[in-house]
Amino acid sequence: MINTHQGMIRYEGTLDPWMLSFWSTLYQINPEYFPNGPDVMIPRDEVIDQPKYRILYHTQEKVEPKLLAESDIIQKARGMSPGKLSKEKSEPDCFLKMTRNEVLTKAGSTKDVRHFEFQFVSSTMEYEVGDVVELLPSQNPSAIDAFIERCDLDPESFITVCPRETENMGSRGEVTTQFPIKLKTFVELTMDVTSASPRRYFFEVMSLYATAEHEKERLQYFASSEGRDDLYNYNQKERRSVLEVLEDFPSVKIPFEWLVQLVPALKPRAFSISSSPLAHPAQVHLTVSIVSWITPYKRTRKGLCSSWLASLTPEQEINIPVWFHKGSLPAPPQSLPLILVGPGTGCAPFRGFIAERAIQAQSSPIAPVMFFFGCRNKDTDFLYSDFWESHTREGGMLSEEKGGGFYTAFSRDQPKKVYVQHKIREMSKKVWDFLCDGAAVYVAGSSTKMPSDVMSALEDVVSEETGGSKEVASRWLKALEKAGRYNVEAWS
Ligand SMILES: Cc1cc2nc3c(=O)[nH]c(=O)nc-3n(C[C@H](O)[C@H](O)[C@H](O)COP(=O)(O)OP(=O)(O)OC[C@H]3O[C@@H](n4cnc5c(N)ncnc54)[C@H](O)[C@@H]3O)c2cc1C
Ligand SMILES: NC(=O)c1ccc[n+]([C@@H]2O[C@H](COP(=O)([O-])OP(=O)(O)OC[C@H]3O[C@@H](n4cnc5c(N)ncnc54)[C@H](OP(=O)(O)O)[C@@H]3O)[C@@H](O)[C@H]2O)c1
Repeated sequence: MINTHQGMIRYEGTLDPWMLSFWSTLYQINPEYFPNGPDVMIPRDEVIDQPKYRILYHTQEKVEPKLLAESDIIQKARGMSPGKLSKEKSEPDCFLKMTRNEVLTKAGSTKDVRHFEFQFVSSTMEYEVGDVVELLPSQNPSAIDAFIERCDLDPESFITVCPRETENMGSRGEVTTQFPIKLKTFVELTMDVTSASPRRYFFEVMSLYATAEHEKERLQYFASSEGRDDLYNYNQKERRSVLEVLEDFPSVKIPFEWLVQLVPALKPRAFSISSSPLAHPAQVHLTVSIVSWITPYKRTRKGLCSSWLASLTPEQEINIPVWFHKGSLPAPPQSLPLILVGPGTGCAPFRGFIAERAIQAQSSPIAPVMFFFGCRNKDTDFLYSDFWESHTREGGMLSEEKGGGFYTAFSRDQPKKVYVQHKIREMSKKVWDFLCDGAAVYVAGSSTKMPSDVMSALEDVVSEETGGSKEVASRWLKALEKAGRYNVEAWS
């Protein structure tokens, strides 16, 4: 393993030429493998000849005076975007409006976790517990203005974006399929100029347009294999945004065509829905950890979507474009016993599960639920503590008398860390009884080591309770997974 900086440079120096020949060979064998061009390669001069997209500017008078609905504008903009994923549906399913923004963590916590409630704007979408909603975040308007000004763009101009080779031109040269939209709207809805870091190719293209010699040299160095580590430290490690990079190299005047191609795409963010359509009709609840961290150069960086959501208030009446999806957690039938494991924000989908079962229990029998929750400190990070505790009392969903249970692991309340997997091992007999009764396991939360540690704890349970080896237990759990009774939703 190479762990010195010197080692890294040597490693990069060897890797880059190898990668260059590898990608070149692949590209020569079949250029179709590279629908967006070979920009995964270390670009060569002939690759950087012209951008792959063309911007057509339309005079305002020629733009049809059509009043587009908000969802049409999003569809048009995202449909034209080079960053559009092939599976992405450009048009949002609907819009949500925030009705509640509540901090769940208490003063003194090292985290800021929020409970958000939303209502549907005009059309309502049906969803099930365990589903995921994707939100398109908004970027800081003044940063968008700064980007447009920095790039000498006319925010009011109407544009269409089309791939160079398949320009959708009619016989008289008119654009036939795309509807022009305002440049500023296109930037706001499709280009992440304020948060994501650009890729190395961006620096290479910038170097072509730098007029100050020292900037050109610096950009060429960043784009070279020798400069790769320094670029990583300057760019990715500092989470430098496109706007910040452009501001650091003021002589660069980069054409909009290139920006459209190279600025990272603005991505919707996924969240596990924490409400139940039965318990919270026409509402969507989310449980969101507000992301922020300090970079090596002591800059505070904030997650784009989570910090934007945290900044919203219900009074603002902002329509948030959303897409609903099935995630990895299928809605369980009420007759299915459940073993739920959801540390931190991983409790989100299970709040929906429990709330839903509590309603179902009013009219028909429901199967028992064991829930393992974990957080840093009981006093400050115990998300929805009242909700879980109310369901552990007097015949509640998680009560012993209903055959269920609620188990907490407060990792930092004692010198040695206690995690959900420790609690699973402590409850070995009951967990095994549940599994023998046909229970399904659901795991949600941080994608670090948690899901594999939980799996390992369950292997211990199966092997201890059956007297079999860990290998046999592992195969048994794999079969459970195959049968759709072991479901994991994990995120970073
Ligand atoms: C299916 C699914 C369900 C999800 N459900 C939930 C949920 O219920 N609740 C929830 O809170 N989140 C959930 N997420 C995560 C969510 O989608 C976002 O990734 C998260 O909110 C951060 O988005 P953001 O825009 O705020 O941050 P971004 O602007 O996307 O920034 C996040 C990125 O910043 C970097 N970063 C973050 N912390 C650090 C650090 N300490 N050091 C260095 N770099 C760092 C990482 O590169 C990270 O990927 C889910 C994700 C998926 C895929
Ligand atoms: N970038 C990172 O490295 C990183 C790491 C974690 C979280 N995050 C951010 O935080 C969000 C998730 O936060 P969250 O509130 O859901 O979770 P969280 O607060 O980070 O974790 C919840 C609980 O899980 C514990 N935990 C840590 N490792 C575990 C493991 N291997 N097995 C079982 N439990 C474990 C934590 O303990 P301890 O914290 O005491 O160990 C804590 O008690 C993510 O969206 C991400 O943005 C980032």
